[in-house]
Parts: sequence; C-alpha cells; structure tokens
Amino acid sequence: MIPINKPLLGKEEADAVLKVLQSGILTNPMPEGGPNLRAFEAELESYTRAKHAVAVNSGTAALYLSLLVVGVGPGDEVIVPSFTFIATASAVMIKGAKPVFVDIDPGTYNMSPDAFKKAITRKTKAVIPVDLYGLPAHIDAIGEIAEDKGISVIEDACQAQGASSGGRMAGTLGNMGCFSFYPGKVMTTGEGGAVITDDDALAERLRRTRTHGQIKGYDSVMLGGNFRMPEIEAALGRVQLKKLPGFLAKRAENAKVLTEELAGTKVVPPLVPEGMKHNWYLYTIRCNSNKEREGLRQKLTEAGFGVAIYYPIPVHRTPYYADQGYDKLDLPETERAAETVLSLPVNPLVMANDLEKMLEIIKKYQ
Ligand SMILES: Cc1ncc(COP(=O)(O)O)c(C=O)c1O
Repeated sequence: MIPINKPLLGKEEADAVLKVLQSGILTNPMPEGGPNLRAFEAELESYTRAKHAVAVNSGTAALYLSLLVVGVGPGDEVIVPSFTFIATASAVMIKGAKPVFVDIDPGTYNMSPDAFKKAITRKTKAVIPVDLYGLPAHIDAIGEIAEDKGISVIEDACQAQGASSGGRMAGTLGNMGCFSFYPGKVMTTGEGGAVITDDDALAERLRRTRTHGQIKGYDSVMLGGNFRMPEIEAALGRVQLKKLPGFLAKRAENAKVLTEELAGTKVVPPLVPEGMKHNWYLYTIRCNSNKEREGLRQKLTEAGFGVAIYYPIPVHRTPYYADQGYDKLDLPETERAAETVLSLPVNPLVMANDLEKMLEIIKKYQ
C-alpha cells in the first residue's frame, strides 16, 4: 500500500539520535532549553524568517500555549473552523474557553473571512485560522478584521511547514503560528511542535510557560507546565528540517502532474490562490457527490493507494462536541466538504508510475 504520508528517516536521523544518547543530555528544564533545542529553534527561525521559534512537545501544546500566553480563559470565545483536526478546537476547550465554529470557503477549504467577521462578539479573544492540507489560510483578510477589534490571530500551521503566502512563510502570518511535527507531517520529530512569533514579549512568555513559568529554576513567576521538546526530538528535527526543501520539491512535482492531468475531469483538483504556495502535505480532490467519492475511494484503495478522508466528520459533530449541542450548528460548506473530499498520496515515496496508475483509475471512474 502506498501510504498517504509516512515519516522518511535515514542514517542521518539515527546518527543524530545516537549522538544525543551518547552526550547524556536528554533535556534542559530551563527556559532556554538544551543545545539541540536551541539549535533547532535557531534553524526554524532562519527557515521561517521569524524572530522567535519556541519548540514544544506537540502541535496541540503549541496551540494551548499560544492561547495561554494571550490570556484566553473562561468566558472568552475563540473562533475556529470545524473542518480541521480536532486539536484546533480542543486546545480552546482545555483552556476553558468556548470554541465558536465557523464555515469554510468552499474553494480552499480554509476559514471564510466573512464567516469569521459575522461570528465576532464582545467575548471574542482570539481566532485560529488553519492552513488546511498545507495551504495558507486567508489570513490577510482575517488579520485586518482581527487587528481592528484587538483579536489575537493564532495561525494553526500544524500542516503547513514550508508553505507561504505573499512570500511570507506559513506560521508567520498571524501573531503566533503553530507547527506540529507528528510523524505523518511533512517533517517529523516523533511527537513535537513549535510556536513561532515576531513578538518578543509573547516569545518570552512562551519560553517560560513551556517549563512551569520558571526563570532560573524553582522560581515560577507564572503558571506553566511541562511542554518541553526533548533533545532527541530536537536533534531529529534538525536533520528533518535540512531535508524539508527536498521533500517539498518532490511533493510539488507530484502535485503538479496530478493537477495538470486532472484538469477537464469530473473531480476538482485543489485550488491554490494567486501568491500562495502549498506545501502539499495533502493533495485533496473534490468529487461531485458522496457516492462518487466512496466509489473512487474503494477503487483506489483496492489498487493499493492509501487514499484518505480529511475529515469525514467535522469537529462540531464528533460525539464529544455533539453531546454539548454543537451539532445543531449549520455549516453547509463544512458538511459538503466532509462528504466529498478525498486526499491522494503525493509524498516523496510516490513515483511517476504510481501517479499514472492513480490517474488512470480516476479518469476511468468518470
Ligand atoms: C490542523 C492541526 N492542528 C493541530 C494538530 C495537532 O498537532 P499534534 O498532533 O502534534 O498535537 C494537527 C496535527 O495532528 C493538525 O493537523
């Protein structure tokens, strides 16, 4: 089976991990972190051209800490899409605030700036636009409205390492940007994440809250927790970040072939608005109906392609959120996307003959 995504690890990663084990330095509980963590953060800063990168132990932790440092808590509302991975909304819930789900733009599957604008109330403290599938969200439009109202913009760039909008890297488009380095992502640290920001004060709060609000040790000045990225993960991340441009080039090559060949067929290839660069974490087509999607999914699966649906159930209708009444919301474009999208593998393991086979099946299925 050709996987939809898979971590690509080699000798360099093994050597880097071994070196950490031999050094005996596995972590550092101070705000500045250990040597690999510091180096990984500096390399992330240089890659994204952000002033600060604060590595943490998951993308969920990155979102949670971002909400913590802007003071989101009980009584606050945070506007999020429902067509996303559950962590986007759950970070808000864990913080004791209320997620306010809004609909997506049907062309890009990302948060609709109009829907965002309509959902703002006096309680809105933050918005989390998601760069879904690796395509930057409409943050220029969202950011303009948010800035006017004093709403923090936390970009969920967990899927979008290496993407860009108007020449600015994904993760740097809001006040803070969150990455995930989960194994299925375009680069991995095992589990891991990072928050990036140009804001000195937020960066300092992030570094402290990541490690119990400590400054020098046993002197907590603010509430925090243990969200530290271990040295082994940071060492892995350093190797993977170096390989990332190569990984993304191969993904872009595969995506280009699919998009060219799918033009004129019944399925809708992904739309990349002018000025945006996709990282092709997921190459997602849209079918005309749920029946058509299920038929195509079956054919491609039978042929050994690990196609997948992101996401078959919108967050507001998952059992936990439905139990709290969120399932009564009317989000028609979110529902339509959940019924019709299908992601095809374009990861670096996918070869030209795999693309040909997938295309043959899709064209025949019309
Ligand atoms: C959009 C989105 N947000 C948040 C997360 C959470 O990241 P993690 O799994 O590293 O906690 C993920 C990835 O899993 C994601 O895809």
